[in-house]
Amino acid sequence: MKKKLCVLAVCIAATVVFMLAAMVSSGDTSVAMAEEQAKEAKPKKAAVERSRKAVQTLDNIFKQTIVLVTDKYVHDEDDFAAGSAAVLLFKNISESGDNKVRLIDATGEPYDDENVAKDDFEREGIKRLKAGDQIYEEIVSKDGKHQLRTLTAVPVVMQKCVMCHAHYADAKKGEPIGAISYIVPIE
Ligand code: HEC
Repeated sequence: MKKKLCVLAVCIAATVVFMLAAMVSSGDTSVAMAEEQAKEAKPKKAAVERSRKAVQTLDNIFKQTIVLVTDKYVHDEDDFAAGSAAVLLFKNISESGDNKVRLIDATGEPYDDENVAKDDFEREGIKRLKAGDQIYEEIVSKDGKHQLRTLTAVPVVMQKCVMCHAHYADAKKGEPIGAISYIVPIE
């Protein structure tokens, strides 16, 4: 009887040791898997490049539109400003799809308090653009998906801008008075 108990105890001990070993090794496996996923988690260069191209295309269309609207449709301070049109357009675009866009101030004197840098990325980006960079970007992960965040500079493109934003007259040549902030998916 004693012998049987002994065998049983040895068996149990062996099982425990075996289970512990299995747990430790599966721990190793999960570390290895996490590393593998982290490798996979880095977005492909080609995908990042596609998102960059998408931002460039959008940025060009938006800026050309703001200039065209200001040139052809805005004649005095009471007209519906291209800035107002852009803010509304960007809000609708951001609410209806995966691309998020905002028009923000870089002078410290926005028309509307909503149109300001709201997080570290936008605040740092405004600093860099004011220091002379044309573009500021960062790849971020949200809910396991990659996104490209970009800030592009908005300079005082034409004299008419000063009609409503009087303080733009103080801006140095080429100095950005605002920025467009983009978040586009990397796919
Ligand atoms: C007719 C007046 C008017 C003209 C001209 C005008 N803007 Fe604006 N702008 C506004 C108004 C009003 C807003 C606020 C829009 C809103 O929040 O709905 C604004 C907002 C902006 C913003 C966002 C930051 C802020 O101040 O709220 C930027 C940047 C901007 N305009 C740049 C420009 C540029 C560049 C031009 C020239 C191409 C220009 N604006 C011409 C009236 C004008």
